[in-house]
Amino acid sequence: MEKIVSFCKRKGFIFQSSEIYGGLGGFYDYGPLGSQMKKNIKDSYLNFMVNSRPNIVGLDSAIITNSKVWEASGHLKNFTDPLTECKSCHKRFRADHLMEKNNVDDLSLLKCPECGGDLMDVRNFNLMLKTFIGPVEDSSSVAYLRPETAQSIFINFKNVLDTQRIKVPFGIAQIGKAFRNEITPSNFIFRTREFEQMEMEFFIKPGEQEKWYKYWINESMRWYTEVLGIKKENLRVKEAAKEDLAHYAIACSDIEYNFPSIGWSEIEGIASRGDYDLSQHEKFSGQELKYFDEASKEKYIPYVIEPSVGVDRLMLALICEAYTEIEKGRSGEGSKEILLKFNSKIAPNKIAVLPLVKNKEVITLKAKEVFDLLSSSFITEYDETGTVGKRYRRQDEIGTPFCVTIDFETLEDNAVTIRNRDTMEQERVLINELKEYFNKNV
Ligand code: GAP
Repeated sequence: MEKIVSFCKRKGFIFQSSEIYGGLGGFYDYGPLGSQMKKNIKDSYLNFMVNSRPNIVGLDSAIITNSKVWEASGHLKNFTDPLTECKSCHKRFRADHLMEKNNVDDLSLLKCPECGGDLMDVRNFNLMLKTFIGPVEDSSSVAYLRPETAQSIFINFKNVLDTQRIKVPFGIAQIGKAFRNEITPSNFIFRTREFEQMEMEFFIKPGEQEKWYKYWINESMRWYTEVLGIKKENLRVKEAAKEDLAHYAIACSDIEYNFPSIGWSEIEGIASRGDYDLSQHEKFSGQELKYFDEASKEKYIPYVIEPSVGVDRLMLALICEAYTEIEKGRSGEGSKEILLKFNSKIAPNKIAVLPLVKNKEVITLKAKEVFDLLSSSFITEYDETGTVGKRYRRQDEIGTPFCVTIDFETLEDNAVTIRNRDTMEQERVLINELKEYFNKNV
């Protein structure tokens, strides 16, 4: 994991936030390659989960809502983690994490892992980040940055139902930022205080929850393995034991990825939440949030299946999955090569256009022409510095699936060489057939 963290910085994927001021714990910035990769992940989610399904619609709601939302959802009271603090060095820890790590049930058996001091009794710490609305900072102006995107979907249930021609079963999905004042942000972008979620609430007829719960677990697994290219053996579905479920949940499964250093950890939670959220919002808002089923003439509060994915955690899993080191290079007798074997849909850049030599104007002009042709349809980089071998290596390292080289022959036959990142095979393709080639291959 340490290697991945420094690699991500070195290549411009992920930087510590506010780095020139010493950073800020639990916050990260996504650089040129990271921000493009994140966008590709979100686009893939939208394509697979939303746009290709006639009964799923999108939403983009405000990050700050009326505080009553969090009263109704139970977050104000229950969205807490158990906190302990060292009486000597005043470092704070998640009590449950400390006990789990040391395999004990009783915190009083433990000492501070930093200085060996005594630990304070556990208290519940609310994870929501607070702010104030307007010029006066008092209790009436308190507001919270959303700790999940899901609640804004529930509070827009009626708006969406009244304005779209959709019938149960249907889903509302949204991608957006969420904020949690984590006690111990850790493991790079795995546990942060600001992160992004891709969540869907899938509204169903009560009684059909088992079928749809299984359906969405399968669909998520299909997305990870068939579309994003994660190996099956690096993923597992872990169902929560009945006694560990929140009182309103019928069932809940985590999809876990086997991260290096961290081990099996959640990238997505899929929950069968019954009618808890809509019922709560109906009660607290006084607005009816029922669905009228035209066919059966029944009125009911739909049940919900909620697949909830963390963009940042999935991105970390995809980088870990793709990161490959070859000690003596692919020739077997060179220096170490690093490759990011990204699926081409996820790779930040799809194509790199490389003029074979840079000081021959006819070649660079032709290469820029090819760049202009391709960059209107594909994320393309133009690179003319260094030897072509070094440029190939650089593109391999950032996961670019294809390099296009323009050479002297190009001026004669109007064709270029396409080099494949993984096989290193090269093929000659006419410039006027390039778009068709990449439409098929990226
Ligand atoms: N609406 C349900 C919900 O928010 P969750 O299991 O708390 O459920 C869903 O969060 C996903 O959001 C997780 O599977 C994880 O990928 C991501 N996530 C949660 N907390 C996170 C954090 N502090 N940093 C990064 N990602 C986080």
